Amino acid sequence: MPGMVIKNMSFKVGQTLTIVGVPKPDATNFAVNIGPDEQDITFHINPRFNAHGDENTVVCNSFQGGNWCEEYREGGFPFQLGEEFKFTVTFTPSEFQVNLSDGSTINFPNRMGAEKYSFISFDGEVRILSFEIK
Ligand code: GAL
Repeated sequence: MPGMVIKNMSFKVGQTLTIVGVPKPDATNFAVNIGPDEQDITFHINPRFNAHGDENTVVCNSFQGGNWCEEYREGGFPFQLGEEFKFTVTFTPSEFQVNLSDGSTINFPNRMGAEKYSFISFDGEVRILSFEIK
């Protein structure tokens, strides 16, 4: 059940999304989802403190045609319960590049191939303080 959904966003190749938030003190995980519509997720970014068998790991994936696809586990884990975080997602012609605050990166393919996505949702135990597309 998504917490906050934006349905008419324009996130295009060449742009960078910056997200600032605070995980709840007892969060198990949270997620940011970027995609073309309500059903599909092109890029699911899921920091897991302790969820689905993972501890302090960022799991990324896409959800297409009703199924989760191949997971990526890359980058560090600069997230702490109850503490503010900030990360960016840059949309290049071939992939999404996440820059985390510890200097690590996640490179995830644009599996759906579109040059613009209009849905963004935030799930799980997090308070989003701001997000900005530039
Ligand atoms: C599942 C989880 C989903 C999503 C997916 C990513 O286990 O229930 O919320 O994170 O993994 O592959």
